[in-house]
Amino acid sequence: AGLAQAGQGATVVPQAQSTAQATLTILYGSQTGNAKGVASEYLQQAQAAGLQAKLVNMADYKPRQIKSETHVLVVVSTHGEGDAPDDAIELHEFIGSKKAPKLDNLHFAVIGLGDSSYEFFCQTGKDFEKRLSDLGAKPICDRLDCDVDYDDAVAVWTKQLTDLIQPQLTASAAPVLGGAAPVTAGAASQYSKKNPFSASLIESLKITGRDSVKDIRHIELSLEDSGLTYQPGDALGVWFTNDPDMVSDLIQLLALDASEEVSVSNQTQTLATALIEHLELTQSYPKFVEAYAAFAGSDVLNALQEDKAALRAFLAERQIIDIVREFPAKLSAQQLVDGLRGITPRLYSIASSQAEVEDEVHLTVALVEYDAHGQPHTGGASGFLSKRVQEGEPVKVFIEHNDNFRLPQNGDTPVIMVGPGTGIAPFRAFMQERQAQDAQGKNWLFFGNPNFTQDFLYQTEWQSLVKDKVLDKITLAFSRDQAEKIYVQHRLRQHGKEVFEWLEQGAHFYVCGDADRMAKDVEQALIDIVAEHGAKSQQQAEEYISELRKAKRYQKDVY
Ligand code: 2AM
Repeated sequence: AGLAQAGQGATVVPQAQSTAQATLTILYGSQTGNAKGVASEYLQQAQAAGLQAKLVNMADYKPRQIKSETHVLVVVSTHGEGDAPDDAIELHEFIGSKKAPKLDNLHFAVIGLGDSSYEFFCQTGKDFEKRLSDLGAKPICDRLDCDVDYDDAVAVWTKQLTDLIQPQLTASAAPVLGGAAPVTAGAASQYSKKNPFSASLIESLKITGRDSVKDIRHIELSLEDSGLTYQPGDALGVWFTNDPDMVSDLIQLLALDASEEVSVSNQTQTLATALIEHLELTQSYPKFVEAYAAFAGSDVLNALQEDKAALRAFLAERQIIDIVREFPAKLSAQQLVDGLRGITPRLYSIASSQAEVEDEVHLTVALVEYDAHGQPHTGGASGFLSKRVQEGEPVKVFIEHNDNFRLPQNGDTPVIMVGPGTGIAPFRAFMQERQAQDAQGKNWLFFGNPNFTQDFLYQTEWQSLVKDKVLDKITLAFSRDQAEKIYVQHRLRQHGKEVFEWLEQGAHFYVCGDADRMAKDVEQALIDIVAEHGAKSQQQAEEYISELRKAKRYQKDVY
């Protein structure tokens, strides 16, 4: 009996090998699941290439463990103003702190995910690279900064990474099973982001009132025969097509021919098909401004290249067609297509539980519609789902699992849910699930929207959940029913004493909806509540929240 016997199915290192088997640890930090998706996909690729590799969520990783690694691939996204995703906060902080050890034996590579319209594009990826280098770790190759449409870039870069590390990391002939956890997510179904399921639209219903300032839809899709399954907290990825009328306007503005053939990702198709089905038109982005400026000869567009903040403001209020209308240019169909990026699917938090709706999936979708630059505008995916798909027609979808937004394992644990606007969606799923499970834990929902009579989403459902004693408390913040604004965070503060009591009783706290303002204001309210009712300093209260987050009792699904 020896050391090799230790543990459950521990890796048996072949005798002949003098040094420990080198392993690639793929460490991911994900908020919405993209980084996790890239990391899991690379694990499969690496293993298929015979590499010794394992996949670990940074949230489940003891920062000090980094000292014992030989090869690490960091896959991490960036949010807001260069912020790390929740999963990555601890490790990100640790490797930048005085406590961090020297890492002379570590080889690493970094994939950063982000959105190039933001000033702090891929900042967390950059931080990881800098901090690991400062600790003495050696980069295996240049960092990859991924924009929103990253699939092609990731495929090329990871192929090179595999070639570079293959010599050191090829698993020995003996079966070595210790490290690599099998990837099970999505294994039950053949459908995925790249191979989506065509779900037929069952129903699309406007659930805000006639006089509402908002147009919010309840959408039901059928997953029948797909084998797709989801859990409350998961999101549905939706591929959409662009409005054909908008596409014809665009083609006309540029005096191009809709039937001309162009090449997109090595596939030949007509310009009209490429623009309707494959290219992003309802958002604008730096890549397009840069490419288009070369043909428009406009000082304004050229100057924007130099000023990130101005560029971002410019992009935020324009679709591609606005730029074309404002800055006439002469370019070929292929040149136009080359300046555009691929359509990316939109993720919607799922509003149903399969325990209740079986092979259906429900969404709560705000239709984006506004006038700007003298023209009406409609959002890409929300316009598609709300206006262009008819009942019985297909929508290409996939499930984006989100382990960062999960009901407590134990049905007795209380939950507090804060979901203004369409942020309500996952909590409808939570409550369907808790009701189906006959969970005994208390449930408290905070919901907000402009007007009680127009915007109380799923009102009758909440009322019957209250009647059935599934929903213990519902607290409402209708912001425009009185002179002063009342938001969910104001209601939280008003009920601060009780919110703190629930937290002390072990409640999980969930926030879904707007990331920029609401989620930040709610977090500040939470800190203040803990400080006031827990008699703590501001710093102690922040630590309390940070502990909640580490214990996965404070979870956010914000966008
Ligand atoms: P408002 O539009 O009247 O300002 C859902 O969109 C609800 O969130 C609306 O009632 C909206 O109010 C409100 N809201 C706007 N800004 C918010 C913030 N910073 N925090 C919380 N809720 C906010």
